[in-house]
Amino acid sequence: MTGARAARTTIALKLGMAVSGFIFLGFVLAHMYGNLKAFAGQEAFNEYAHHLRELGEPMLPHEGALWIIRLGLILSLVVHVACAVALWRRAARARTTRYVVKKNTGVTRASLMMRWGGVTIFVFLVWHLLNFTIGKVNPQGGATDDPYLLMVDTFEVWWMTVIYLVAMLALGAHLHHGIWSAAQTLGWTGTAAKRQRAKTFGFVVALIVSVGFSLVPLAVLAGIITK
Ligand code: HEM
Repeated sequence: MTGARAARTTIALKLGMAVSGFIFLGFVLAHMYGNLKAFAGQEAFNEYAHHLRELGEPMLPHEGALWIIRLGLILSLVVHVACAVALWRRAARARTTRYVVKKNTGVTRASLMMRWGGVTIFVFLVWHLLNFTIGKVNPQGGATDDPYLLMVDTFEVWWMTVIYLVAMLALGAHLHHGIWSAAQTLGWTGTAAKRQRAKTFGFVVALIVSVGFSLVPLAVLAGIITK
């Protein structure tokens, strides 16, 4: 492959990461906002969860809009992971090139953190879906069909709250660096002022998402949100 073509492919892969990443960002912001309804009580929270399933009716069937969102997220996940793996392989291949200084391993600390952060978030997601959506596994046993009760029962168990808080820390770090990388790919870091703006934006968004998500588990553990 020629150098110019290789560079174009790298840019296309990074664009794939940026676009799918922004779709995830839209989802996590909306999800976080929805979760905060737990502070408004059981009825408000469950009505919101119920309304999500009725979105788009009668134009769409029951859960129609929800399934469109789910398919969009699954597609984004496939694109995000496939582009990430392709980029890692390119970095690993570049490492074996003879004229590259030996110390330049192609794996920076930030990219290692992104890999392991991404894997952590993925493992969390599988756990989370089994916990709340697919399995509806209540760690305290008992009622599982009520999203609000399931959430309170879950976070009353301290180690479940710890798992969620650790995952939110990983998500915050991933977003912090991911937004910065996406800004570079999209050419929003051309001047010192723009770089500063992109860094601040990434930091603020990461903080809002990780703190916003952590509020509900912490409030349950502190006895502010109760059954
Ligand atoms: C403290 C943090 C979180 C809490 C309390 C929480 C809570 C919930 C609850 C209660 C549901 C079930 C909603 C329902 O059945 O109507 C749910 C579903 C879901 N959550 Fe979370 N969530 C959190 C973080 C996250 C994060 C960080 C992600 C993504 C990285 C995520 C992705 C999802 C997905 C994909 C679903 C399934 C939606 C569906 O297809 O029905 N959640 N969450």
